[in-house]
Amino acid sequence: MARAVDNRKVAIIGCGFVGSATAFALMQSGLFTEMVLVDVDRERAEGEALDIAHGMPFAGPMNIYAGDYDDVADAAIVIVTAGANQQPGETRLDLVHKNVRIFKSIVPEIARRDFPGILLVVSNPVDILTHVALKLSGLPENRVIGSGTVLDTARFKYILGEHLGVDPRNVHARIIGEHGDSEIAVWSTANVSGIPVNDFCELRGHFEHEEAMERIAEDVKNSAYEIIAKKKATYYGIAMSVKRICEAIVRDEKPILPVSNYQHGVHGLHDVVLSMPAVVGKDGIEYQVPAPLSEGELARLHESADALKKVMAELDLG
Ligand SMILES: NC(=O)c1ccc[n+]([C@@H]2O[C@H](COP(=O)([O-])OP(=O)(O)OC[C@H]3O[C@@H](n4cnc5c(N)ncnc54)[C@H](O)[C@@H]3O)[C@@H](O)[C@H]2O)c1
Repeated sequence: MARAVDNRKVAIIGCGFVGSATAFALMQSGLFTEMVLVDVDRERAEGEALDIAHGMPFAGPMNIYAGDYDDVADAAIVIVTAGANQQPGETRLDLVHKNVRIFKSIVPEIARRDFPGILLVVSNPVDILTHVALKLSGLPENRVIGSGTVLDTARFKYILGEHLGVDPRNVHARIIGEHGDSEIAVWSTANVSGIPVNDFCELRGHFEHEEAMERIAEDVKNSAYEIIAKKKATYYGIAMSVKRICEAIVRDEKPILPVSNYQHGVHGLHDVVLSMPAVVGKDGIEYQVPAPLSEGELARLHESADALKKVMAELDLG
């Protein structure tokens, strides 16, 4: 009989900056009653579990502990944040070989325990590692997701919101493609509460659209480099992004999120994992949304896909 999913349980593999910030955000969310932390550095996992558990009297009861792969097998979501992070000057793609090696030691451990839940990849390069996790796990495509450009989209909304003096939750715009240097800001459909973004800019006294669009997209793309140069790692924004994806799954909310997911058809993309908008619910990817793009955006999306395919083709997953 297939293993049952425990919808109130989450597991985090890798308890560094990103894993521990994610655990902290999830502890406060009330989404789960059990959280297992796994790390090759067992003491690190134990220390994080204890520290985070001490916040429980201010949040709510929950079982938080350091564990191993037997403990993660029935979790609704296993979040993988294990692996090297970017050093100043490194791109996300520079991490690929180190982190593929780490994934070879993690993903088969999960898969061979007949894991019935959703595998959520956060480690970078997230699109490549989501594709690698899909191949190594043999899990169905809908159940292997990457955090993708959910974070970049949050950065986009934040920066646009600041530029326009408006709540970023009223900014409807997204970043798609690679979570990395070839990502694409989708301006053609961007709007503020239903008002096309350029019209809203003019209402707020901004008329230099081309210049502003270029600057804002560059700021979004370079956010991680700037934060890493200043504080060595990024983790709060990604922790909130992961919490949002977890909410979508365990509450079966079905929001449209730009997560990394396997493509076979939408906009002519095939056999590549990158961020495209998808309805996310209890089964993971429930529907791939063919959101409209301008000709230029479509061309750049294909360039992004080609760059990722090239990296995938060079990997040895044997
Ligand atoms: N997707 C995103 O938007 C996003 C954002 C920020 C960071 N990241 C990525 O998240 C990853 C983690 O970043 P970080 O800053 O937390 O790094 P970190 O070095 O602080 O933590 C990595 C942790 O992984 C553990 N680890 C290494 N190998 C392991 C294994 N085989 N099994 C279990 N645990 C293992 C380490 O012991 C360490 O605790 C990096 O790849 C980083 O680039 C992704």
